[in-house]
Amino acid sequence: MGINLISDTVTKPTPEMLKAMFSAEVGDDVFKHDPSVNALEEKAAAMFKMEAALFFPSGTMTNQTAIKLHTQAGEQLICDKYAHVYNYEGGGVSFNSGVSCKLVDGERGMMTALQVKKAINPPDFYHSPLTSLVCIENTTNKGGGACWDLNDLVEIKEVCTENNLSYHLDGARLWNALVAGNHSPEVFGELFDSISVCLSKGLGCPVGSLLVGDRVLIDKALRIRKVLGGGMRQAGYLAAAGIYALDNHIDRLKEDHGKAKELASTLADMSYVKKVEPTETNIVIFEIRESEMTDTAFIELMGKKNIQLIGMGDGKLRMVTHLDYTEQMHYEVIRVLKSI
Ligand SMILES: Cc1ncc(COP(=O)(O)O)c(C=O)c1O
Repeated sequence: MGINLISDTVTKPTPEMLKAMFSAEVGDDVFKHDPSVNALEEKAAAMFKMEAALFFPSGTMTNQTAIKLHTQAGEQLICDKYAHVYNYEGGGVSFNSGVSCKLVDGERGMMTALQVKKAINPPDFYHSPLTSLVCIENTTNKGGGACWDLNDLVEIKEVCTENNLSYHLDGARLWNALVAGNHSPEVFGELFDSISVCLSKGLGCPVGSLLVGDRVLIDKALRIRKVLGGGMRQAGYLAAAGIYALDNHIDRLKEDHGKAKELASTLADMSYVKKVEPTETNIVIFEIRESEMTDTAFIELMGKKNIQLIGMGDGKLRMVTHLDYTEQMHYEVIRVLKSI
C-alpha cells in the first residue's frame, strides 16, 4: 500500500462523488449551456455573497486571470516572497500580464499592512512600475498551511482602498482556513475584489477551480478564460464533483487537520528532526538535522517504506494530509516515523 503525502491534489473521486459526476446533466459550457456548471457557479457566488463565479480548469488559471483583470502590462503587484503566483505559476505573471512582483519578506507567507504600504511605489514617480494589485494566499502553501488573522487582512484591505489597489485572494486552500478559523466564506467575500478557490485540493475533486467576484469582473473573466484556452465544453461532469464536494467535503477537513497536527507532534519528538513549523491545517513542514541525514536521503528512506513526501527547497520537507489518507495509513506513517 503506497501512502502519498506529497500534496492534497493526489486524491481520486470517492464512489459518491463519481455517482454525482455520472448522473450530471451537461451541456456546452462555452455557450453557458451547461446546467451543472451554472449551478456550481451560482452556488459558489452565493457562499461568498459575491455577485458571480466562473468555473476554471485550474487554480493557476484563476489566479492568472485575476492578475490579468486587475493589472495592465508594465505594472506591479505586491505579494509575499512565498506566494504561489510568484514561485509556482511558471512565470505566468510576466508571461500573461507583463507584470512584475514586488516581494515582501513576510512571516510564513503572510505580510503586514505596514509592509504592504511600504512596498507601494509612489504613483506619480513614473520611473517605477505602477503598483496596482495586492495578492495574498490563504492558507499559505509554502508557509506550511498557515492561516491569516482576519484583522491583518482587513488592515491590508484598508491600504488597498487608500491607494486604489485591487485585492486578490489566492484561496486554493481557503476551505482549510475557513474550517480552522471557524469563519464563513462571506467574511472573505466582503474583503476581496476577487477570490480564487480550488476544488481539486482538500475537497477531493479531480479538476476545477472557481474565480469569484462582482458581475462586471466575472463577465470580463469569461473572455480571459477563453483566451487562455480554459473554456470547456461538457464540463458539468466536473462541476457535479464540485457541487458534491462543497456539500460534503468541507467539514471533514478538520480530520485532515487533526492528522497533520499528530504528524507534526510525532516529528517534533524525534531526535533526527531539527524543526517542525507550526501546523494549523493540513500541511506539515519540517527539517531534518544535517548531522543525521540529508533531506533527500530522508525522502528516499521514506520512499523505501512506501511513503511519499516532497522537498520544498532550503532543506524543508512537506507532508500534506488529505481525503485519501486513511486512519490506517496514518498509523503506519506514525509507526515508521518513530522507527527511524
Ligand atoms: C496556493 C496555491 N495557489 C494556486 C495553486 C494552483 O492550483 P492548480 O494546481 O490547480 O493550478 C496551488 C496548487 O498547488 C496552490 O497551492
